[in-house]
Amino acid sequence: MTTYDLTVIGTGPGGYVAAIRAAQLGMKVAVVEKRATHGGTCLNVGCIPSKALLHASELFEEAEHEFGAMGIKIDSPKLDMKAMMGHKDETVDANVKGVEFLLKKNKVDTFHGLGTITAPGKVQVTPDEGEAQTVETRNILIATGSDVATLPGMEIDEKVVVSSTGALELKEPPKKLVVVGAGVIGLELGSVWRRLGSQVTVVEFLDRILPGMDSEVAKNFQRMLKKQKIDFKLSSKVTGIDTSGGGAKVSIESVKNGKTDELEADVVLVAIGRRPYTDGLGLDKVGVELDDRGRVKTDAHFKTSVDGIYAIGDVIAGPMLAHKAEDEGVACAEMLAGQVGHVNYDVIPGVVYTMPEVASVGKTEDELKEAGTAYTSGTFPFTANGRARAQRHTEGFVKVLACAKTDRVLGVHIVAAGAGEMIHEAAVLMEFGGSSEDLARTCHAHPTMSEAVKEAAMAVEKRAIHM
Ligand code: FAD
Ligand code: NAI
Repeated sequence: MTTYDLTVIGTGPGGYVAAIRAAQLGMKVAVVEKRATHGGTCLNVGCIPSKALLHASELFEEAEHEFGAMGIKIDSPKLDMKAMMGHKDETVDANVKGVEFLLKKNKVDTFHGLGTITAPGKVQVTPDEGEAQTVETRNILIATGSDVATLPGMEIDEKVVVSSTGALELKEPPKKLVVVGAGVIGLELGSVWRRLGSQVTVVEFLDRILPGMDSEVAKNFQRMLKKQKIDFKLSSKVTGIDTSGGGAKVSIESVKNGKTDELEADVVLVAIGRRPYTDGLGLDKVGVELDDRGRVKTDAHFKTSVDGIYAIGDVIAGPMLAHKAEDEGVACAEMLAGQVGHVNYDVIPGVVYTMPEVASVGKTEDELKEAGTAYTSGTFPFTANGRARAQRHTEGFVKVLACAKTDRVLGVHIVAAGAGEMIHEAAVLMEFGGSSEDLARTCHAHPTMSEAVKEAAMAVEKRAIHM
């Protein structure tokens, strides 16, 4: 019987990337996945299907509201929900098959079933049907990701009260959609259904949207979403959802003054965060410790409290992002091969894929203020960018934050169409410890939206040209 060098439990972006990197480095690798397809949350019910619907719904809205202004006369576009969902399903299918191909190409063995760690070096695989078997392995990597978080009184039936998974499968746009949580999922999927015709109200516990993002960015972005007719009830908590009468009655209470209100909805999307997923892994039996939020505790080398057992991705601390999980997968595999794997947690971009997009890397202004760091800042609006005008995408701005003493760039925040692509020049700059002057003196092609990034860097020294 084969003894593997590494057995990875979970083939999301963390797990499958770790498996491929370990195989590239000469290890004999197995993966255990309980889902029928590889790719985890990200490819099956997360990043990829949501972006397929975001893209399609964005085109639908552009056809309705933007084409005419650019001289393209068409009748009002009609929604073919089945075909749009077909586009999403095909995208998912192609991606999960791609991962299957890559695992095979790299000679990674796949075991389908629930993985349980029965002892260090032993993973029991229990398939839906048939006998359980034990995989022998020198090292185990836990990459089991996360699952939807719920609260009592918000039981998800995936029909009227849905999680992101149900919100990606609705048969038609609900007339009234109430979204609980103004985080990334709430705003992305709220945008999809608003564009397709739903009246969307977002209820948020805090007094702002997108907690953790730069507050100036969040405030401006909320204004843009309001203009798109998304309603917000901030500083409000949902105290109950009554689904007895067909649709839903959502009871909310102001956290400021206790005032209560009731919202009617055809569908309620609960998007209040995700929880690390360790169910069925048997961690308590082998002594793998969790932190106070249920995440697997690891050291700087991704090692858990038990020798030979490692963990990465959503199931450990840090932002729950696919690219963070991937980079940890690579670093962990490299460390197991005796190399010096590394993840720079100060330079992990975050993107909200709405229209406009919100993209951010490094410190927010709020964080710099709180830490007492002396900083300088430069901003530049897309209204002053030629390409943005040509494309009628003038909403948004770039903000560059730099150290007041050294000029090293500490954070960049962009609200714009395509911000998620533009943010990476800032990420590369920051990886190399670059300054705002480096960015300002780097030649940027004209006409591009990215010129606004250069201009914002120039604005740090109050020398922007086009403003
Ligand atoms: P996961 O992708 O959750 O994969 C874990 C895998 O482990 C799953 O396949 C699961 O079936 C399997 N598993 C669990 N337990 C066991 C077990 N005991 N035995 C066998 N298999 C097991 N992030 C971004 O960066 N960009 C985005 O645009 C983005 N969009 C998102 C949209 C939505 C709607 C959602 C829900 C999430 C989104 N995310 C996005 C977050 C992203 O999906 C996660 O950060 C990422 O998938 C985490 O990767 P992972 O490998 O740690 O875990
Ligand atoms: P989130 O943590 O981004 O947002 C949850 C929001 O719900 C917060 O604003 C929080 O204050 C609010 N909230 C919590 N409890 C509440 C309550 N009882 N009533 C009202 N509001 C409440 O979580 P979300 O949006 O569910 O996403 C989960 C994870 O998935 C995130 O960590 C994110 O990183 C990841 N994701 C990333 C995407 C991207 O990178 N584009 C897209 C979608 C998800």
